[in-house]
Amino acid sequence: MAKVTLQKVVKSYDGKQQAVKGIDIDIADKEFVVLVGPSGCGKTTTLRMVAGLESVTGGDILIGDKRVNDLPARDRDIAMVFQNYALYPHLSVYENIAFGLRTRRHSAEDIEARVTEAGRILGIADFLKRKPKELSGGQRQRVAMGRAIVRHPQVFLFDEPLSNLDAKLRAQMRTEIKRIHQTVQATTLYVTHDQIEAMTLADRIVMMNHGVIEQIGTPDEMYHHPASRFVAGFIGSPPMNFFDCHVVQAGSGLALRLADGTELVLPEDRAKRYAQWRDKAMVFGIRPEDLGLATEAARPDQVMPVTIEVAEPLGADTLLYFPLGDTFACARVDPHAPTAVGQTVTLAPNLAHMHLMEPEHGRVV
Ligand SMILES: Nc1ncnc2c1ncn2[C@@H]1O[C@H](COP(=O)(O)OP(=O)(O)OP(=O)(O)O)[C@@H](O)[C@H]1O
Ligand SMILES: [Mg+2]
Repeated sequence: MAKVTLQKVVKSYDGKQQAVKGIDIDIADKEFVVLVGPSGCGKTTTLRMVAGLESVTGGDILIGDKRVNDLPARDRDIAMVFQNYALYPHLSVYENIAFGLRTRRHSAEDIEARVTEAGRILGIADFLKRKPKELSGGQRQRVAMGRAIVRHPQVFLFDEPLSNLDAKLRAQMRTEIKRIHQTVQATTLYVTHDQIEAMTLADRIVMMNHGVIEQIGTPDEMYHHPASRFVAGFIGSPPMNFFDCHVVQAGSGLALRLADGTELVLPEDRAKRYAQWRDKAMVFGIRPEDLGLATEAARPDQVMPVTIEVAEPLGADTLLYFPLGDTFACARVDPHAPTAVGQTVTLAPNLAHMHLMEPEHGRVV
């Protein structure tokens, strides 16, 4: 197994615009790193450069301690699973998995041992004699992973491997991939635009936007300490609410004045932290789960009255949507609370979990 290092890696397809603009990523041995970001941000390009399927315009890529920029893909000891994996329809599952080993002239015993092992790890041992068309979508996906696993590569690369599956199967395969990684323990770089996949699978998440890295961190760090509005809005579902606000003096402390005139008095530590933003227009970020219905214990100077426009009962909790200024916001509340569309309710934001951002660049301060 091996670490993978990207140093100031640049990719330009046409010599002018850069799809990847000088990124640095250090993936530790056995680490599972998820590259996440919106469509076109450079995820696949980055992965293909690591795989050796795309040339590197600038910077260096190292596998272990070896610079691989000019090493052909087949010599990199990497296995890649794509979104559109193609199985050979006329070959059995066994032969599909064995195919790459046969072309690399592994011995019959070695192939037998590796395919059997992969079948066991992937839970498809009973299907090895079947043809791909006799399998479900999830089972086919596992065969595609089997082809990668039997190679015993130093590094696994995945490019949106689950995006062709339905929601239930995706969730199942997500767990499966996590279990497989725990068994196989290979260094993995996994691309997705699905933040839930990123959160559930990653040891660390690399968040890309327009060819640059916005933030690298553990799922926990990305969720609780986003560096920017972009990250804050991408990770978490429903996404974080963003309210335009003014930071204003309130007694000896500070408050946030929202678009409807509501003032939220900041806890002391936050007031200290945000002192330099007094009298500035800022953005107040708060997640739906930190926006519950006010109880009697709530401080009256830390609540927001809002009128519910849409209610979505999810079973475990209920999402309430309400307008405030230019924002159509969401609160995640107790499903047993008596709430109805058109009703005005009082929300109590958990200001210990709030975020304050500069409106211009979206930097969290
Ligand atoms: N072969 C190519 N030639 C020219 N431009 C390309 C090529 N491949 C990708 N690009 C451009 O590079 C940028 C990054 O593309 P890339 O495929 O890496 O995005 P992505 O993050 O994987 O997006 P998605 O989530 O849609 O798969 C895009 O602007 C894309 O149009
Ligand atoms: Mg892509």
